[in-house]
Amino acid sequence: MRKKVTVVGAGNVGATCAQELARRDYANIVLVDIKPNFPQGKALDINQAGSVLGYEPNVIGTNGYDETSGSDVVVITAGLPRRPGMSRDDLVATNEAIVGSVTKEIVKRSPRSIIIVVSNPLDAMCHVAKSASNFPRERVIGMAGILDTARFAASIAWETGMSVKDITAMVLGGHGDQMVPVVSATTVGGVPLEQLAPRGRISKMVERTRTGGGELVNLLGTSAWYAPGAAAAQMVDAICLDEKRVLPCTAYLEGEYGIDGLYLGVPVKLGAKGVEEIVKLRLTTDEKRMLRTSAAAVREVVGVLKSR
Ligand code: LAC
Repeated sequence: MRKKVTVVGAGNVGATCAQELARRDYANIVLVDIKPNFPQGKALDINQAGSVLGYEPNVIGTNGYDETSGSDVVVITAGLPRRPGMSRDDLVATNEAIVGSVTKEIVKRSPRSIIIVVSNPLDAMCHVAKSASNFPRERVIGMAGILDTARFAASIAWETGMSVKDITAMVLGGHGDQMVPVVSATTVGGVPLEQLAPRGRISKMVERTRTGGGELVNLLGTSAWYAPGAAAAQMVDAICLDEKRVLPCTAYLEGEYGIDGLYLGVPVKLGAKGVEEIVKLRLTTDEKRMLRTSAAAVREVVGVLKSR
């Protein structure tokens, strides 16, 4: 049977994610947005592309939630995006209300679904979705690490002149400027990055990764969508196809990595049950310190939430 995936928010990230998923052709997709006619238009456009690209017209656009009933996976992208000069954290109050009410609508109709949160500030919005859904931690996961890792990998590819296809990287921590590109776990074709580039060059790659979201906001006037949409779709694949991928995702930690009661980016085994394992990665002393700093920054934003 085909899977059912709902994407809430038909803006740039949501529509890109829906399009990526439509092209996979294993699921029926419901695209929800409050803007009248907008998700219907996006769905029609994606469906019409199916004839050219070779997939069934499998997307329904709607302004309500009835069509979302019985979804296996729900991707929440709803909320305001960043504008130039704004940090992800500036969005917290507005997006808390949006993500909270969207989550409630979703769980009423899809009580067994797995929720992937994409809205910013990402780590805090995961707390909102977990508290509004009352789902176990296995079924509320955030998308950030795949995106941040993709930015790190692109930067490594440009700096070293080596193919991005051969880069295995890992960015952990919160989805903010304190995120932790784990250099000690980053390789190109199996060769540690530290053997391929001098320290100063690696620092440049790390810095560009950390500020990668802001770099795009400054160029585009709003936040990015191609890489975020593709990254969310990769998580949907891992769950719907029970792939057991090990990917950096934002998961609720209960003592892992020495952090308790907080959403943070860590390597996760992702399969049909959602978070099937939080994978332990040995970090250097410096990386551990950076992870604690990142966790403290996330805790500060979580602290201003009305619902926790
Ligand atoms: C970014 C936004 C989506 O990092 O958080 O581009």
